[in-house]
Amino acid sequence: MGKELIHTYRLFLKDSIRKVIDFSQTDQNRGIAPPPIEKPYPKDAKRIDLPQYDQLKKVSGIDLKTAINNRKSRRSYSHQPLSMEELSFLLWATQGIKQKLDDGHALRTVPSAGCRHAFETYLCILNVQGLDQGIYRYLPLEHQLLFEFTEEHLSKRMSQAVFGQSYPEVAAVTFIWTTIPYRMEWRYGIAAHKVIAIDVGHVCQNLYLACEAIGAGTCAMAAYDQEVIDELLRIDGQDEFTIYLASVGKC
Ligand SMILES: Cc1cc2nc3c(=O)[nH]c(=O)nc-3n(C[C@H](O)[C@H](O)[C@H](O)COP(=O)(O)O)c2cc1C
Repeated sequence: MGKELIHTYRLFLKDSIRKVIDFSQTDQNRGIAPPPIEKPYPKDAKRIDLPQYDQLKKVSGIDLKTAINNRKSRRSYSHQPLSMEELSFLLWATQGIKQKLDDGHALRTVPSAGCRHAFETYLCILNVQGLDQGIYRYLPLEHQLLFEFTEEHLSKRMSQAVFGQSYPEVAAVTFIWTTIPYRMEWRYGIAAHKVIAIDVGHVCQNLYLACEAIGAGTCAMAAYDQEVIDELLRIDGQDEFTIYLASVGKC
């Protein structure tokens, strides 16, 4: 690969772009209202309550020092299902909302550049107590699950979407984070994309530590077939697309 091409791609990791952007022209500074915190859903959609943060007593796990020390990528899982409390804890730890500030801003359990939180969390649920297999979406404002749809051969399709990596097939749940880039572009214009990539790392790191705390394991996945996974989720692949995944199961 040519040096010039490499240098072009490396630019993505730098912040030089900030000095050439006219920030007065971003949608935020032009007075356009912020996009919604959470992707809208049909009023009659099936929603499932998750145990609230203060009800998660059963999942008080190990101390933080031990969790950090034990953290590793775990690709073997037992057949034990994840409980609703445990799933609720993992969702709270990764994208939970602590305080809604206004219609466009909320403070969460993870940091985000400009408090933009440009992600949605989809779940490919295969083995969670009380839930049918299917694709769900986390609604952080309501702390609920939205049932999206189910598919035949879901576990196989999940594995195919990550180029045949096999552990999502036996995982209790695979977290699939999509980005809605406009949430970040609204504030940062074309300087939005690097910080989106940084932000999703925070989300997944919290998943690793939260899994350790409840005797579960996770493995991040950035090797996936973009078009296949976006099609599986039934999202448009332009204004919303997959950015990162992680499978979770009990150890
Ligand atoms: C951005 C990123 C992408 C990754 N993608 C994959 C993947 O697609 N498949 C996989 O098996 N592991 C993946 N991993 C896990 C790494 O292989 C793992 O973190 C690394 O080998 C270090 O092992 P440890 O996490 O146990 O410390 C990914 C990790 C990160 C941070």
